[in-house]
Amino acid sequence: MSEGIIKEIENLKAQKDAVILAHYYAPAEVQGIADYIGDSFYLAKVATKLKQSRIVFCGVSFMGESVKILNPEKTVQMPDITADCAMAHMADVNKIKQMKEEYEDLAVVCYINSTAELKCVSDVCVTSSNAVKIVRSLKNKNIFFIPDKNLGSFVKKQVPEKNIILNDGCCPIHAAVTKEDILSAKSEHPNALVLTHPECEAEVLALSDFIGSTTDILTFANNSKQTEFIICTEEGVGYPLISNNPLKKFFFAKKEFICKDMKLNTLENVLKVLKEDSNIIEVDEETRIRAMVPLDRMLEMAK
Ligand code: 13P
Ligand code: SF4
Repeated sequence: MSEGIIKEIENLKAQKDAVILAHYYAPAEVQGIADYIGDSFYLAKVATKLKQSRIVFCGVSFMGESVKILNPEKTVQMPDITADCAMAHMADVNKIKQMKEEYEDLAVVCYINSTAELKCVSDVCVTSSNAVKIVRSLKNKNIFFIPDKNLGSFVKKQVPEKNIILNDGCCPIHAAVTKEDILSAKSEHPNALVLTHPECEAEVLALSDFIGSTTDILTFANNSKQTEFIICTEEGVGYPLISNNPLKKFFFAKKEFICKDMKLNTLENVLKVLKEDSNIIEVDEETRIRAMVPLDRMLEMAK
């Protein structure tokens, strides 16, 4: 059944000059047909270097939107246009304006997991793989980090010389992991290293052996001599972890560690949008130009 779908997708891709990008949280079978798989930074970066005129982006809306903002001449489609990231909406434009009035030298640092509207009022975007580096190299002393309080507080610890003001947003999926979840996983697997995404709460990060983006977690596990790992991020990373490391063991910190929106990316939906030319992402030109500034700055500063 899925072999037939995969063949049809391959044919349509060639016919329509399309390329498929997938985040590590997309279902395994979708990662299986993707031309490029990665974390949010890699995908944003790779999208600017593609020769195809059409990109099918298997992720959530802020990712597809960022790709469209950076590549206005391309057709960007999402298998399910409703796939959203709850955290992307958890900051307030008026609050940002108020903070800018309060602090003269304020830099608004915007985690890429945010709407285009929030990017428009931000100075620079970051992802979990470059946030520390970018915040450290900013000239500003005062930083308003939006929307994720957990990534923000992780950066604050690494860059104590800055006054980082946190915003009250978080990823409901990562923030649901508790200290008790980690302690119980550790007691079940005492030899395992805990590898954690920085969207988790500080008490969870404190119990972790390694903290990094999805790509960083994969790279760490690939290069480590250890053979057992407790993984503290969405279970989609299990697919590349296991296929790259068939002799190592991976245990998730929590049952059902799932971002439901990411799972809206199905083979059937990929085929449908390619067939119907549907779910095309549009960003109005004024918003696009303003939102592109912090994204471009991120790509430059992360080099
Ligand atoms: P990465 O930048 O590590 O891919 O994370 C994106 C994300 O949405 C994590 O929840
Ligand atoms: Fe957003 Fe959390 Fe899903 Fe990542 S896992 S896309 S932060 S809701």
